[in-house]
Amino acid sequence: MLTAEQRTGYDRDGFIVLPGFKDAAQIAALRARAEAIVDAFDPNESRAIFTTRDQERASDAWFLGSDNTVRCFFEEEAFGADGQLRQPKALSINKIGHAMHDLDPVFSAFTRDPKLAQVARDLGLVQPQVYQSMYIFKQPGIGGEVRWHQDATFFDTDPISVTTFWFALEDATIDNGCLWAEPGGHRGPLRERFIRDGDAIRMEKLDATPWPDDSTAVPLEAAAGTLICFHGLLPHYSAPNRSPVSRHAFTLHATDAGTVYSARNWIQRGADLPVRGFD
Ligand code: FE2
Repeated sequence: MLTAEQRTGYDRDGFIVLPGFKDAAQIAALRARAEAIVDAFDPNESRAIFTTRDQERASDAWFLGSDNTVRCFFEEEAFGADGQLRQPKALSINKIGHAMHDLDPVFSAFTRDPKLAQVARDLGLVQPQVYQSMYIFKQPGIGGEVRWHQDATFFDTDPISVTTFWFALEDATIDNGCLWAEPGGHRGPLRERFIRDGDAIRMEKLDATPWPDDSTAVPLEAAAGTLICFHGLLPHYSAPNRSPVSRHAFTLHATDAGTVYSARNWIQRGADLPVRGFD
């Protein structure tokens, strides 16, 4: 699927952009399914948790409980001072996560794509294990920033193997908060590690190398249907969306079964929900 030139580009830059990877029908099916999940979501289910006294622990619990399930998360700016949604629910959700690719037939069909399996192989994943999926809305006006980070922070393996598959479901532009990345930045060190210890999570600082800035980062604008694959060490970021249009995207994170998956990663799979690849 990938040419030798594309593979060389991936090794050099740490990412590759593949326009037209998914067609309009595949995108429409995923968008419709996401809309249905949000429609069925009762905000009180999570609001009850968020109104407990210990806000941070409560939000951690809602997050941690989404590891092997399907849950909706609100944008940080979704609620006004009165505690009510400022926009309709469908325009207030930040993302759906984190196991739709295994638990939902529509998301699973999008993920189990022979073309995708081939790209993963071409990028060096001998036996891919897809640990996480996220449907990201980047809502108009309130779509939140995702600060600079590396995905290997969340999926630690020895050696590092996590690879990200990022699908544009709408045109991603500088205006509506497209990805930014530092070409070649995947050759730098892992800066942080996200550690789960039971019901507690923390970020461990590993390296003081600064995050990129405008002088070295490039915007990865992408038309709907584009697949962007990137290396687990590639620093990337996306700006808030202050524009009137959303920027839906879908991401998958896969590691290689030939590496050692850390027992301290926040997502663990057992025999009840075995981790699978793209086949
Ligand atoms: Fe990321």
